[in-house]
Amino acid sequence: MDDIPLDGKRVYVRVDFNVSVGGDGTIGADEDYRIETALETIQELRKRRSQIIILPRRGRPEENPEEADIKPVWRHLQDLLREDIRLLDHLYGPGVETVVQSMNPGEMVMLPNVRADIRELHNNEKFAKQLAEVADVYVSESFGEAHRERASLSTLPTLMPSCAGRRTQLEVEMLNRLRSNPKRPYVAIASGSKVTTKVDMLLQLLQEVDTLCLGGQIANVFLAAKGLWRDHHEAEEIEAAKQILAEAGPKLLLPIDVVTGEEDGSGMTEIPVDEIPEGIENLWDIGSKSTRAIIEVCETAQTVMWNGPVGRFEVEPYGLSTKTLAQALADSSSYCVVGGGDTVTALERYKLTSKFDHVSVGGGAMVAFLEGKKLPGLEPLMQIDGKD
Ligand code: 3PG
Repeated sequence: MDDIPLDGKRVYVRVDFNVSVGGDGTIGADEDYRIETALETIQELRKRRSQIIILPRRGRPEENPEEADIKPVWRHLQDLLREDIRLLDHLYGPGVETVVQSMNPGEMVMLPNVRADIRELHNNEKFAKQLAEVADVYVSESFGEAHRERASLSTLPTLMPSCAGRRTQLEVEMLNRLRSNPKRPYVAIASGSKVTTKVDMLLQLLQEVDTLCLGGQIANVFLAAKGLWRDHHEAEEIEAAKQILAEAGPKLLLPIDVVTGEEDGSGMTEIPVDEIPEGIENLWDIGSKSTRAIIEVCETAQTVMWNGPVGRFEVEPYGLSTKTLAQALADSSSYCVVGGGDTVTALERYKLTSKFDHVSVGGGAMVAFLEGKKLPGLEPLMQIDGKD
């Protein structure tokens, strides 16, 4: 934002407001991190007297039609900014052009949910060109989505001068510190639901870190792959875990105890992993000994990367390990980076977000970045006047 002309220009601010909305149409204070983190850029542009055209994405309307509605995030953004923002009915066209032409310096408008147009998902070039008509410059605050190819994210910024917003720039700087010469020992804690979607990341991390700790559903699949949990039957997942186990060596730290019980949180029991009885359909959390083991290894670390709650934190008491770990990491002096939507929600709930060196807005995007992949939503922003 320091390198391209923005002052007094018509500026697109492309935001990824993919946040959970409650049944009453409001967004909880634990859920609005992706909105809050875009504020700095919006406020700077107001001071710079740009005409701000907010181009938002919310949810997956192609799967859940009610998520097409942008009003919940529009209302929430106005509350946070304490300003009225005019909401337009269309993404482009003469009506939008007329409104934008009449905007005062520093004024903001918001367009409808870009994800509600299927051409966005298909990275349709004509659609991107239609969007390009009303703005002079493009600023991206969509790091959470940067691993996707989308019309308004990876094509639109190629059609005008483009740059990363303040938050997106921070994401790149902070995550780069994990990629290039992290201070050692470097410990990663990975969790989440599917091993198959994280094979590349886990293999990459095994090359880079000193210890890789696993929790959550991912760890459970590894327990199944080792024959310790006999009631998990997803063959593809188990195969992926076996592949990683074959390459992992002593760097991999798996749970030594786990938590079972009823789905509603009643009947919680901790059991050692080599005593998991048959007929246990769900392992909800890692046990207290496993949590202690992760904390001990993190206490000696200089760098920690944590992606994914280690248990089903939404249902008490299955959030115990996630909360204990979050508190221990918040208190530690290591360089600690956290990412993933659910992990951020957990930290927000425990009021610990500000205690970490960096809490990424990216889940999949952070994973892809750490894998060293080129991100389609970042690549066009890396060039100014044709130079990298
Ligand atoms: C996310 O929440 O991971 C990003 O916003 C990407 O969302 P998508 O998977 O629906 O593209």
